[in-house]
Amino acid sequence: MDILVVGGGGREHAVVRKLSMSQRVGKVYCAPGNAGIAALAECFDVAATDMEGMVALAKKLEVDCVFVAPDDPLVMGMVDRMNAEGIRAFGPSKAAAIIEGSKVFSKEFMKKHSIPSAKYEVFDSSAKAVEYVKLQNSYPVVIKADGLALGKGVIIAESFEDAEKGILSIMEDKVFGESGNNIVIEEFLTGPEVSVLSFTDGKTVRPMLSSMDHKRALDGNRGLNTGGMGVIAPNPYFTEELADRCMEEIFLPTVKNMAKEGRKFKGCLYFGLMLTENGPKVIEYNCRFGDPEAQAVLHMLDSDFIDIIDAVIDERLSDIDISWREGASACVIMASGGYPEKYAKGVEISGLDEDGQLEGVTVYHAGTAFKDGKTVTNGGRVLGVTAEGATLSEALKKAYEGVSAIEFDKAHYRTDIGRSAMDIVDR
Ligand code: AMP
Ligand code: GLY
Repeated sequence: MDILVVGGGGREHAVVRKLSMSQRVGKVYCAPGNAGIAALAECFDVAATDMEGMVALAKKLEVDCVFVAPDDPLVMGMVDRMNAEGIRAFGPSKAAAIIEGSKVFSKEFMKKHSIPSAKYEVFDSSAKAVEYVKLQNSYPVVIKADGLALGKGVIIAESFEDAEKGILSIMEDKVFGESGNNIVIEEFLTGPEVSVLSFTDGKTVRPMLSSMDHKRALDGNRGLNTGGMGVIAPNPYFTEELADRCMEEIFLPTVKNMAKEGRKFKGCLYFGLMLTENGPKVIEYNCRFGDPEAQAVLHMLDSDFIDIIDAVIDERLSDIDISWREGASACVIMASGGYPEKYAKGVEISGLDEDGQLEGVTVYHAGTAFKDGKTVTNGGRVLGVTAEGATLSEALKKAYEGVSAIEFDKAHYRTDIGRSAMDIVDR
């Protein structure tokens, strides 16, 4: 099978790498790809959101399957569009991807089906939203833009002034464009966070290894929210007992009710959970693999990835075995200094050499490009240095050894990835 992977970040590098390990996979292509992906797959300069361009490319390459990895093309309906052209594709339909594409939809869906989540209200007017926050007078309060916002559409306001500023920036200044026409205001929850990516064919749900993302830019969970600065898998907070409970209370009710509503979800469904004092609650759904969760989680997949992809598309996921390697993995993101705000691009990266410059370490490229024969930075998150070990501490040690071998001007990374999890493992 020849496959075209849509996207060009660290997640797509992990997807491409796993696919290229498969006996059944022939050529792997990627669009737009990046400098790391180019070592494994021929890359084409077509933007992930260029629907017509991507259809034309899939046809020209005569691929057997298109793997749509990022949220934007999924929410736009790229899988439906491919299917309409007779092209097989992995990922949810537009009708199902709305579970990530609209927070108003997902909150109403959870309420309707008694899936545990934070209490909330929806607003289409900033004046009413501001009035509501003033009346509630309880902080922190969580403000979310309805639509996609590059992972930046969530504001946790500590005061009335912050909340008002946030509401006005989303609804009046439209910092996230049309995504801010409606907002959700919800209760602030606390507890450890767990990411559970799962394969689902609309009937069966097969959770992958659980993981823990680190969203804040700086050590100690300080600084701004980012797309994710590092991941460990599995997440030691997510016990087997909790996994069973989530299957009953969250995973199955989500998949079954989406199908009942005519929105059968086929692909990777990502449950962003918070383990609160009152049990696990859904913070968010994503309609795709997380980034950098995919790097740490897919790394540990033992089964043939393409077998799972086929089973999802053909709706026979209950028939197959999916196995994961023992031990743990860790992914440490090296970002451009200044990310998630302003940062430089085109900075030369040294110490990369070949993929996996150290034994057991894989460097997934997120934002890189070639310039004059050199690999340079080309985004906020640049590399995801990922390692596997018999234990979490071994995986972390290796990943950080990998990081120390790589250099670029103003490189920034967190030095405490997985530290809070180590407390649990050691207990
Ligand atoms: P999201 O973009 O939806 O993943 O949200 C970004 C981050 O905001 C999450 O990973 C949480 O850390 C935090 N967050 C979102 N909703 C809530 C909530 N209701 N209570 C507390 N933290 C939240
Ligand atoms: N790492 C979080 C996400 O992919 O949404």
